[in-house]
Amino acid sequence: MASMDIASILQGGYQHPLSRSWQARRHITKSMLMYPIFITDDPDAYVEIPSLPGQARWGVNKLEGFIGPLVQKGLQSVILFGVPLNCVKDDRGTPADDPSGPVILAIKKLRTLFPSLYIACDVCLCEYTSHGHCGVFRLDGSIDQEPSAARIAEVALAYAKAGAHCVAPSDMMDGRIKSIKRALIDAGYGNQCTLMSYSAKFASALYGPFRDAAGSAPAFGDRKCYQLPPQAKGLARRAIQRDVAEGADIVMVKPAMPYLDIIQDAAQLAPDHPLACYQVSGEYAMVVAGARAGVYDLRTMAFESVESMVRAGCTLILTYFTPQFLDWLSE
Ligand code: PBG
Ligand code: ZN
Repeated sequence: MASMDIASILQGGYQHPLSRSWQARRHITKSMLMYPIFITDDPDAYVEIPSLPGQARWGVNKLEGFIGPLVQKGLQSVILFGVPLNCVKDDRGTPADDPSGPVILAIKKLRTLFPSLYIACDVCLCEYTSHGHCGVFRLDGSIDQEPSAARIAEVALAYAKAGAHCVAPSDMMDGRIKSIKRALIDAGYGNQCTLMSYSAKFASALYGPFRDAAGSAPAFGDRKCYQLPPQAKGLARRAIQRDVAEGADIVMVKPAMPYLDIIQDAAQLAPDHPLACYQVSGEYAMVVAGARAGVYDLRTMAFESVESMVRAGCTLILTYFTPQFLDWLSE
């Protein structure tokens, strides 16, 4: 023992649960959790989503019973995704800002029912376009940049006017952050609504269950011309810097766990902004499936997954585990 160098002994620093907890720079808290929820147009719907165990599509009339108990447990924010099943889709996603569509009705309902709940809205066209893509296309099948950014901005403004505290464009069209910020400012919502950009959104295999849930798989082709290639660290860094320059209030990395290096880069590139990451549907399904297969304990793995995101630098996590974390963080 006498021969052991003093600098070799680390275990004395984390021998107790409390001293272990002091090893974290920051801890996960309830206020960091944003819960993604799917709103459909049948007002009385409750339809479970088989590929996303424990998650469902909800009608607006069911929101009080669904969200009320979660607010009691400390839920502070949600992000809404529209899943219209009875609308006429077209090439510019006209139903996206239909004042009687499920998202706008849900914003108003939630604002009334739960005045303290922070309501973010995903903004995209893919749930509302006939082709299932996230932007407006030319006849030759290429993206039409200007109309795409303009249409996304129109939809974002409609959600802000309906009362959303935050609009979050997930479409990945070039120039949309600038158009949305401009539209919000020009309509007097510049200081009423947060703009959260899905900045580094990768073309991932992990969106499968979501497309199932939202019915938003593209009718042809894929999303590789607008979502980032998984290997693209440089493009991700450029996208983050661009969105900050265009007026994003929050930047996001998505998916989360396979992209922890990008989260760390974003924390360094945008140190003065909140940083979100999205533990997407496939990540959630993977954690649940592994637990069911006996690979690990669900709760231990769920914590390990989000704690790694916090360690990498995120300050906000969109996760389908939110209801479970509200319980676990209350113990
Ligand atoms: C669509 C959108 C997707 C997700 C959020 N918004 C899917 C996609 O881009 O194909 C994924 C969310 C998840 O998987 O949980 N704009
Ligand atoms: Zn989309």
